[in-house]
Amino acid sequence: MRILLKKIKQLATPTGSMLKKGKDMSQITVMKDVDVYIENGRFKEIGHGIKPDIQGENGENIEEIDCSDLVATPGIIDPHTHIPFAGERHREFYLRQKGKSYIEILKEGGGIINTTKAVRAASEDQLIRQNLEYAMEMFSKGVVVFEGKSGYGLDIESEIKQIRVLCEMEKLLPQKIVKTFLGPHALAPEFDTYDSYMEFIVENMLPLVYEEFGGDIFADIFCEKGVFDIRQSEKYLEKAFELGFKIKMHADEIEYTGGSVLAASHGAKSADHLIAIETEGINALAESDTVAVMLPGTSFFLGKPFAPARRLIDSGAAVAVASDFNPGSCTFNDPHFIAHLASSQLKMSPEEILTAQTLNAAAALDISDEWGSIEVGKKCGLVLWNISDYRFVPYFPGHSIVHTVISPYIDGCHVE
Ligand code: NIG
Ligand code: FE
Repeated sequence: MRILLKKIKQLATPTGSMLKKGKDMSQITVMKDVDVYIENGRFKEIGHGIKPDIQGENGENIEEIDCSDLVATPGIIDPHTHIPFAGERHREFYLRQKGKSYIEILKEGGGIINTTKAVRAASEDQLIRQNLEYAMEMFSKGVVVFEGKSGYGLDIESEIKQIRVLCEMEKLLPQKIVKTFLGPHALAPEFDTYDSYMEFIVENMLPLVYEEFGGDIFADIFCEKGVFDIRQSEKYLEKAFELGFKIKMHADEIEYTGGSVLAASHGAKSADHLIAIETEGINALAESDTVAVMLPGTSFFLGKPFAPARRLIDSGAAVAVASDFNPGSCTFNDPHFIAHLASSQLKMSPEEILTAQTLNAAAALDISDEWGSIEVGKKCGLVLWNISDYRFVPYFPGHSIVHTVISPYIDGCHVE
């Protein structure tokens, strides 16, 4: 792979390989009329008037793109989705408009359990087919990396099936997929109490999942009043960490329980949702390297308040923005619309949003050494936009403003 992007009208990117906290989220680099040369899936040279060696390493031709009318940003990273899922839940959507709450629906055996039934019944092929479509929609909008999780299986076989589906999808897609185990997403129908299901997860599921997928996998938990409490969450995170999982949490989404404090004190890479976070949690995140992941699409979809992104950033926390794409609480997977909500509802600046959807999103997935900015040596995730300025993205969702998406995997192979 050899690509020369010629005379990019405007290139906007955060820089570095670490998360950006507080005010530093606004520090982006903007360059004009700059060339970017890509070789073997990485940014090789960035500057003016680049003339790559005609021969290259393996004599491949150089594909040249005239970018004099285009804006370039790093490829978008979505650090929180619930891909893969099966089926859909439109009935609940309308029940909520009549006054039923998300937690009431879950307690009556609907919600996540509805999707669990569909996922258990689906074959791997069916799951792959349905979810490849969602992933390709996201790629066409500029998403070069996304996170996906289990959590709709709630038994060993179906949880492993979901993660295996993510591995198979990755072989077929131009995107990197970061995989997460979310066994403690709801009470599995086979168990009477959260304590007994947690015991089973800790003793059986976590070790088996780690044995099967190992290394780079995350463990996540839905820590919430009426779901898994702080004590159960702590037990889970400690076991997951001990086995070698990286950790993240669904925390303080509906009521404040201190999930954000637990995430920060256990070295979680991210604490996600945080709609109900309080000062104690904000301070804990600001003092840690745990990324606060905002999911404004979920607030919008459920008609709920929005997380206090401004307070988090102003207190010095690192904030990322993600979709939470799933069939129950957020059916949006469009990163441009999410960027729009980050501006209009979370009151983040365009520079903060760019950092939140690229470098900080990469940090939330522990891949910011390789992804999340346009810098020599990093993986070549990049979006060319048919717009005049990077600030156009949050302002103009719902239109075809993407010109080209570049990823290390567009040749159809996962170049390492
Ligand atoms: O992140 N909050 C917990 N889980 C998901 C929803 C999953 C679902 O409803 O299917 C969330 O919003
Ligand atoms: Fe979620």
